[in-house]
Amino acid sequence: MSQQDQKERVGKAAADLVESGMTLGLGTGSTATCFIQALAERGLRPRCVATSEATAVMALGLGFDVVGLDVLSKIDLTVDGVDEVDANLTAIKGGGGALMREKIVASISETVVYIGDDTKLVDRLGKFPLPIEVSPFASSVVLRKISDLGAKSEIRLQDGKPFVSDEGHWIIDAAFELIEDPYELDVLLNMTPGVVAHGLFIDLIDRMLLMQNGDVVALDRPQ
Ligand code: 5RP
Repeated sequence: MSQQDQKERVGKAAADLVESGMTLGLGTGSTATCFIQALAERGLRPRCVATSEATAVMALGLGFDVVGLDVLSKIDLTVDGVDEVDANLTAIKGGGGALMREKIVASISETVVYIGDDTKLVDRLGKFPLPIEVSPFASSVVLRKISDLGAKSEIRLQDGKPFVSDEGHWIIDAAFELIEDPYELDVLLNMTPGVVAHGLFIDLIDRMLLMQNGDVVALDRPQ
């Protein structure tokens, strides 16, 4: 089965969890796009918060009621993709640059279900470079700090210039290769001035829907 078919399968499986009247958080990226498309194919036009401008444009185009967090007091379900996830449902996100909004939306959702093809589940996190969103002013300071931690890191570029997130920040991609202790790194990055968000998602994901051997498999976060 192609990667695209796998994304469509998990996207549809997640859309099947949505009941009419639910408020939704909509993720960003190619897998989240399949979820949004599957919602529309079910005839749903939910009230939702989008985790990026790109997702907002798509959802508005499909006739969804896209609102801000000032309007929505409660998000019932958020569905999003991941770059890497381990068996504890700790994940790396932000390959699409939307990590800050994605983390905020996940943190205020009643239920968080993420979806992915068969490449996303890993034994240990870190092969995928960790996105770290920074204030442009602080970028060189944070780059040096990340290098001191042993990761090769670089500022993400787009058309030869720093990529600018929807929140107006830059992103450093930090290639740790292996993240020994995600909890320790989370604390360290949260304490680093100039870091406004990072792509380690810890204790946020309730359930992963993943493709394995041609089937959709659900993994719940261990309690
Ligand atoms: C965007 C993300 C995406 O969810 C992540 O990069 C996965 O993307 P895709 O579904 O295209 O593989 O975190 O910031």
